[in-house]
Amino acid sequence: MDMDWGSIGFSYNKTEWRYVSNYKQGAWDEGGLTQEDTITLSECAGVLQYAQTIFEGLKAYTTADGRVVTFRPDLNAARFSDSAKRLEMPLFPEERFIEAVEKVVCANRQWVPPYGSGATMYIRPYMFGSSAVIGVKPAEEYQFRVFVTPVGPYFKGGIKPIVIRVSDFDRAAPHGTGDIKAGLNYAMSLHALITAHNEGFSENMYLDPATRTKVEETGGANFIFIKKDGTLVTPKSGSILPSITRRSICYVAEHILGMKVEHREVFLEELPDFAECGLCGTAAVISPVGKINDHGKEISLPSGMENIGPVLKELYDTLTGIQLGKLEAPEGWIHEIPLD
Ligand code: PLP
Ligand code: COI
Repeated sequence: MDMDWGSIGFSYNKTEWRYVSNYKQGAWDEGGLTQEDTITLSECAGVLQYAQTIFEGLKAYTTADGRVVTFRPDLNAARFSDSAKRLEMPLFPEERFIEAVEKVVCANRQWVPPYGSGATMYIRPYMFGSSAVIGVKPAEEYQFRVFVTPVGPYFKGGIKPIVIRVSDFDRAAPHGTGDIKAGLNYAMSLHALITAHNEGFSENMYLDPATRTKVEETGGANFIFIKKDGTLVTPKSGSILPSITRRSICYVAEHILGMKVEHREVFLEELPDFAECGLCGTAAVISPVGKINDHGKEISLPSGMENIGPVLKELYDTLTGIQLGKLEAPEGWIHEIPLD
């Protein structure tokens, strides 16, 4: 594929093949690959009227020895089931989820960026209510799809530190849908995101919606903080998305790098005590934060605005080393895509 991989951003580039399966009368059809990238729907489809839609995000990587792999897709499949249950959608069998991912990556393998290019293939599985509903209730028919698109860094500048602000908007309600990957969580973050961008910030730090004293996450990534003594701290809350990247980083920190890890409530007033701050997720990987603006009060992380801090750098190198097959992975983390 003749692409300037080093200069692509996080945007949609259409590839040839995608996977589609339809749910009707209580059962999923056989499903399969198609080149059709548009969808025709009832004007009254559940997804269009009441936002009944969920999604996942994972990546495919080319390893140094030329294999194509994904990272812990079983956890994406499991989280997809959790999201489906919460929105009263049918479950898509988890082994079929992984098979669909394999098929779409394999069919578009010329779009998987080469090893060392800095780009990766982003994989987007999703499901939505496709039949008509006008009274508020779950749809009776659903469509499951997977497409892929090559992507570069989520934030412009790659791993250059960003500036974020504490938001006055909430992304989730207590006992709401913050812990699942539903499109509605992202729709309601758009106004907060655009106002943050207009004021010069890359992202929002959302607080716990009940007391507004604790750190939750951003619109698309979990937080990790490094204390001055080197301990990794990550917020615990029922309304943040359980990031697979964050869970993997905590494992790497504790079991590979021998760091102390604390998964607990993190108070806004603790922010000045941290040495480093990063956003982590499939899209964000680990994106360092240089400054956090809390209503005009600037909290500058000691790691500064020039480079990622030393501890996050080590975590970044270890995580991406595992994902790219340079470092040995814990059992079951690397899923090779069969390329027939
Ligand atoms: N938090 C939110 C709100 C997200 O959308 C994402 C992206 O998936 C994450 C965190 C990171 O999760 P993961 O590491 O599983 O990609
Ligand atoms: C991901 O990291 O996969 C996400 O879904 C985040 C999204 C905001 C791009």
